[in-house]
Amino acid sequence: MTSDKRHVALVTGATGGLGTHMCQNLHDDGYIVCANYRTRTTAEKWNEDMKEKGYDFKLYEGDVSDPNEVKGMIERIESDYGNVDILVNNAGITRDGSFKKMSYENWDIVLKTNLYSVFNCTRGVINQMIAQNYGRIINISSVNAQRGQFGQANYSAAKAGMHGFTKTLAMEVARNGITVNTISPGYIATDMVMAVPEEIREKIVKGIPVGRLGGTHEIAHLVSFLASEKAAFITGANYAINGGQHVY
Ligand code: CAA
Repeated sequence: MTSDKRHVALVTGATGGLGTHMCQNLHDDGYIVCANYRTRTTAEKWNEDMKEKGYDFKLYEGDVSDPNEVKGMIERIESDYGNVDILVNNAGITRDGSFKKMSYENWDIVLKTNLYSVFNCTRGVINQMIAQNYGRIINISSVNAQRGQFGQANYSAAKAGMHGFTKTLAMEVARNGITVNTISPGYIATDMVMAVPEEIREKIVKGIPVGRLGGTHEIAHLVSFLASEKAAFITGANYAINGGQHVY
């Protein structure tokens, strides 16, 4: 980017385990970090904690599954800080259960939150990125998109859809200085993973060659790199960070 404007990064689902570390790294890298959240009380408490640790995040409320809320949120960010230069589509939920018992509601909410959100947020920022001839889009998918996981037909479908999206958009905007990449984390020590029943989780950890859950910093470092100007030739890629759980 040619101007001296401080880059603006928007991280969706910022208050979760992965999101928090991504925000911290991007802040340390000098970006204005817009932290998207859905639940105000959780976000305010989170932000207090972050302030105590020296982080100055800009909070933006918005349910990423709702196109109108996303539109309003992006308009507010643009008016406060200018165009979004870096978008990290990180917000995601699980509603695990075997497919034979899966309700339409649990299919729908996971697809809307994990995949339609990617459309909503990316659609909201892409034309400005094209106009300024610079942008970074980073989609946080999952090992369970790459290999499948018992009980996650909804989640695996949504997360696999993210990388299909990455590949096509990467081609469409490559000439506009915009890169689009996917990161596929394995089992990372977040609340989402800790919510898996302990005995199942222990079995999963036994299947990870590195022998442990991943750390949130191990994902956030790659987000920082892909967000940087140094990563200009990396686009359409899918980075597996899973401790060897799935190699292909
Ligand atoms: N392979 C084969 N069989 C399995 C199995 C597996 N991996 N897991 C469970 N089963 C079997 C059980 O032994 C049980 O068999 P019996 O009926 O013979 O006893 C049966 O399947 C259970 O079937 P149900 O239809 O009752 O399953 P359920 O609807 O209750 O769902 C579950 C169970 C909630 C999916 C539970 O297995 C589970 O929590 N699994 C872990 C799912 C998981 O890994 N989620 C990841 C969350 S974190 C995340 O998503 C982040 C990320 O990106 C990695």
